[in-house]
Amino acid sequence: MHFIEKIRAEHPAPFYIYDGKVISEQASILQETFPGFQFLFSVKANPFLPVLKKMAALGIGADAASAKEVALAIEAGMPAENIYYSCPAPTNEDLAQVIGKCHIIADSFHVLILLEKLADDRNLHLPVGLRIHPDFTMDGSPQVPSKFGIAESHIRAVDFAKKYPHLSFEGLHIHIRSQVLDTEQLGKYYDNVMALAVRLQDFLGTELKYINFGGGIGMVYDAEKQSPLDYKKLNKIISSAKEKHLLSAKLILESGRFLACDCGTYVTEIVDIKESYGKKFYIVKNGANGFFKPVLRQFLLPFHPDHIGAFYEPFATENDSYDIYVLSDSDETEVVDIVGHLCSGADIMAKDVTVKKGTIGDLVTFNHAGSYAYSLAPLLFASQPMPQQFFIDA
Ligand SMILES: Cc1ncc(COP(=O)(O)O)c(C=O)c1O
Repeated sequence: MHFIEKIRAEHPAPFYIYDGKVISEQASILQETFPGFQFLFSVKANPFLPVLKKMAALGIGADAASAKEVALAIEAGMPAENIYYSCPAPTNEDLAQVIGKCHIIADSFHVLILLEKLADDRNLHLPVGLRIHPDFTMDGSPQVPSKFGIAESHIRAVDFAKKYPHLSFEGLHIHIRSQVLDTEQLGKYYDNVMALAVRLQDFLGTELKYINFGGGIGMVYDAEKQSPLDYKKLNKIISSAKEKHLLSAKLILESGRFLACDCGTYVTEIVDIKESYGKKFYIVKNGANGFFKPVLRQFLLPFHPDHIGAFYEPFATENDSYDIYVLSDSDETEVVDIVGHLCSGADIMAKDVTVKKGTIGDLVTFNHAGSYAYSLAPLLFASQPMPQQFFIDA
């Protein structure tokens, strides 16, 4: 019996199912492409504990964006040296909670002031990383303002040793774009980050212990329209960049989607079928409040009418970011709208989609649901039951 039916036999839909084997396969690609690197899983992509435990077992650490995510990473068995806390604008309370439990990356001068005070109060010497918003971009276009990181041009204006005597600067962190599928572009980005690390070392007068390139490794969501990165070429590019820049620092890559996206499937169920003015609706349990991506896309489109940028951050998604299947015995297909059962007209999972003809009780699945799926769903609206989550390692 297929594992979806196996779970369905004991648990009602909706549920998420994550397959650890897929995570292992994705991790192997990264490990072969970037030998010697430390990989961090972006916990925000999928904070389900068995998924985090799987990452920990593979030697993958955590890119944690909150004190809670640091706690989850520890619970999953990740050692403190593999947990990196980086959050735009943490509070003093957040910082006090994570001190001593992980590497801390400062996102602004204000955060450095908070850390300096916390270290002084505790009579500590605190190593910290700096998240920098660099002068370069991923695609060579002019840089744009950002709420993330300290602008590269502002770094030179500060005498760090004098201003922050209880802090030492151990690492550089940059993340400027997700979902890059252009090998040359990504290679150039890594080279730019290393060049910046060399400049930063010269300026700070200290050798950095780590360089964190952030995320960016793209996923193929639609094999007809997208091609994977050329991993062999990327490996060569990174080797020559390492030789060129001669850095002794540990090199770190973060990933949410590449590691976890393919491991997940969202499974829900048709609870009603309705015809209205010539249109057929399959109404499913927990549409938007189970798998939010299709709805989020409608909301985001006005911000990215030309799709530029629409695909480069966790909230964003495209039409073909997942396949939808109706698990029905029928040999016929039909064109329907698949909608959720929330009292919102925007709860639309798919419009005019051709699927197998379904009946009430049939399951509907969405793949590519292992990252930014459960963790993005607005689960509190209408107080419906939440989908369950299951992990297998087949
Ligand atoms: C700082 C940082 N690193 C890494 C990632 C992971 O990006 P991706 O899931 O595209 O690999 C994100 C995503 O938002 C991020 O904000």
